[in-house]
Amino acid sequence: MAELEEPVRALRERIERAGRVCVLSGAGMSAESGIATFRDALTGLWSRFDPAQLASVEGFRADPPMVWDWYAERREGVRAAQPNAGHLALGEFARRRPGVLTVVTQNVDDLHQRAGNRDTIRLHGDILRDQWLDGCGRGRVCDVAQAEDGRPPRCAECGNQVRPGVVWFGEMLPPGAMEAAEHAARTSEVMLVVGTSGAVWPAAGLATKARRSGAFVAIVNPHTSEIDDAAHVLLQGTAAQLLPRLF
Ligand code: OAD
Repeated sequence: MAELEEPVRALRERIERAGRVCVLSGAGMSAESGIATFRDALTGLWSRFDPAQLASVEGFRADPPMVWDWYAERREGVRAAQPNAGHLALGEFARRRPGVLTVVTQNVDDLHQRAGNRDTIRLHGDILRDQWLDGCGRGRVCDVAQAEDGRPPRCAECGNQVRPGVVWFGEMLPPGAMEAAEHAARTSEVMLVVGTSGAVWPAAGLATKARRSGAFVAIVNPHTSEIDDAAHVLLQGTAAQLLPRLF
């Protein structure tokens, strides 16, 4: 870590001077809280499970109980997890310098929020939220909390099924989320990308958008990512190691 001292010090100074800072986080942000990433070799979820089965509407329709159970287990993991030193450093910075930091996350856990960044922009939804799979065939707006227990729970009247409120492959991002994220990226003076492989778009394009708009772009990741070219500086390390030193 000694070779990182100078770049870390320089970036910390930039962050301290900046009027607008944007952090884009990915699964690596929560890895040290015990939540598995997607694409790390061996430990990543997509090295052991099939995203076509577990992260698409078609996969859910093909076997609803299996997909429901898989998410139920992940929900338990998220509820049991605690924000790590990286999340806490960002929460503390937001308290110390209100209005400066916007966190944009691809993560579906709530660890940024629990650490104090309540207005985090969530590009890929919220795993703890339930939503209906389909629009109601009878044109009603039913409360998802009223669904009848089951795997998955269902509407007692029309049979509509409940699914987790995450964005699956091929689906639109939550309304307004990408616009808000682009605004944060383009208006930031410093853009810090933490713990993402940069493999999933449109989130992966935010670093380049920030850079083209004049931001200084830095990446925190123990490994290389697909968007390293967008960065002015690469800090090889983990979120919990480096964010407390930067913020
Ligand atoms: P990935 O699993 O693709 O990438 C995780 C990244 O985190 C890798 O580049 C790792 O090197 C890095 N990493 C691992 N441990 C770390 C640590 N302790 N500190 C910092 N970095 C670490 O996860 P994402 O890029 O977030 O989609 O994946 C993007 C999307 O693909 C996810 O949001 C998910 C998935 O399918 C949805 O849930 C919709």
